[in-house]
Amino acid sequence: MSSHLEPDRETRDDLTSQVVAYLADWYDRASNMQAWGVDLDLETLKELRRPPLEEGRDLDSILSDLTVAGKAGIYHPSGGHMSYIPNAGLYTAALAEFLAAGLNRYTGVAVAAPGFAAIELGVIEWFSSIFDLGPDSAGLLLSGGSMANLTGIVTARTAMLGNDFTSGVLYATPHTHHSAAKAARLAGFRSDQIVTVEVDHDLRMDINRLGERIVSDRGDGKTPFLVIASAGSTDTGTVDPLDDLAQLTSSEDMWLHIDAAYGGFFQLTERGKRTLHGIERADSLSLDPHKGLSIPFGVGALLVRDESALVDSHEGRGAYLRDEDSFMGLRDISSLGPELSRPFRGLSVWLPLQLHGVAPFREALDSSLDLAEHAYQRLSTIEGIDARWVPDLSVVAFMFDDDEAGRSAWEAVNTDRTVHLSPTIIDDRFVLRFAILNRRSTVEHVDHAIDIIEKTLIG
Ligand SMILES: Cc1ncc(COP(=O)(O)O)c(C=O)c1O
Repeated sequence: MSSHLEPDRETRDDLTSQVVAYLADWYDRASNMQAWGVDLDLETLKELRRPPLEEGRDLDSILSDLTVAGKAGIYHPSGGHMSYIPNAGLYTAALAEFLAAGLNRYTGVAVAAPGFAAIELGVIEWFSSIFDLGPDSAGLLLSGGSMANLTGIVTARTAMLGNDFTSGVLYATPHTHHSAAKAARLAGFRSDQIVTVEVDHDLRMDINRLGERIVSDRGDGKTPFLVIASAGSTDTGTVDPLDDLAQLTSSEDMWLHIDAAYGGFFQLTERGKRTLHGIERADSLSLDPHKGLSIPFGVGALLVRDESALVDSHEGRGAYLRDEDSFMGLRDISSLGPELSRPFRGLSVWLPLQLHGVAPFREALDSSLDLAEHAYQRLSTIEGIDARWVPDLSVVAFMFDDDEAGRSAWEAVNTDRTVHLSPTIIDDRFVLRFAILNRRSTVEHVDHAIDIIEKTLIG
């Protein structure tokens, strides 16, 4: 056994304290850090890709490389980060990940770590209870929303179409996250089986057009089986008409998958719950704890109303495994999704929730809604800005009377580096957006960016 791979306690303590000290500096700076960093030159990128040495090197010099590597790009912990979908991260979840990796127990099958499986299944049960999915619901933690959408679509495909899915058709909108169409392709659907349904003037799935399209597809001998709705689109935070869609899919004997990767955890707030009305009728639901709960990247979730649908589509058997797919009443997580070996993701959600309680998470989500309201109110008074979409949740998307003026305003905000924004394109028009989901974002961050935008418009 190499002693290098088995450091003694003193060495472990020393290595750990270096890493903890490194992170302490990062966390001390988090509230005031700029929103994005410097560019790295090609030579530095090449250096960072160099292979390991035969004899290794000091942790000090490795952490120095990490500092250099980390200077570039967008700083997610910064409160000024309001581009894409933010995630500030959570120190206590990082500690949980350290613990989970350090304990290195196996959570693919319940028999290997029944207590840990219970913790993780308990997290899923709590999620299901937030959405009132009923006593037969189940789910699992995955690496993110993309994997949740993939697992949800495979589940719907198996439940509704069985083995022959050549005539199946599924429906989404131009604003459904691209991971849904990608998942459908990965699940074996041809591009002509993925139908894009028009949206209304508020960018919500147009239920009448959807209904018409289902009728005409059935008339053509196709099998409409799945509607993918958004509970908060990435572009504009728009929530599709979930209740109406649930009504339609139920009367058409179709499956309703709701992508709530961005917006789902607003269900913890009173306002969010009102906006997401109907979400409780989903057949399956994608969530991203690494968005709405600030868990470090790598934790998504899929919830399914009927556990048997999930098991039917993901159960696997091997001679080297036990015959049952549960132990002590605990379902093997590997029989619910694509992974066999998997990290103990449940700990990084469970530990912070147990430690802090639910209230601070709810408060953080409520503050994001407040800030979005503030941003919208200010933006809608500025000449040259067309704030046509009242935010459903915490993404505030707006257009400019002149797209070029919008691009200049965006560039001015990002050049300042206090706030980082990312735009999107809707109907060939430039759309800028404040995506507010970082508990470190303040009214000062929002106002600073809007001041810059206003100034560039005045000229
Ligand atoms: C609505 C929505 N769905 C799915 C995804 C994909 O999630 P992930 O990046 O966790 O795979 C995102 C990511 O931003 C999203 O906003």
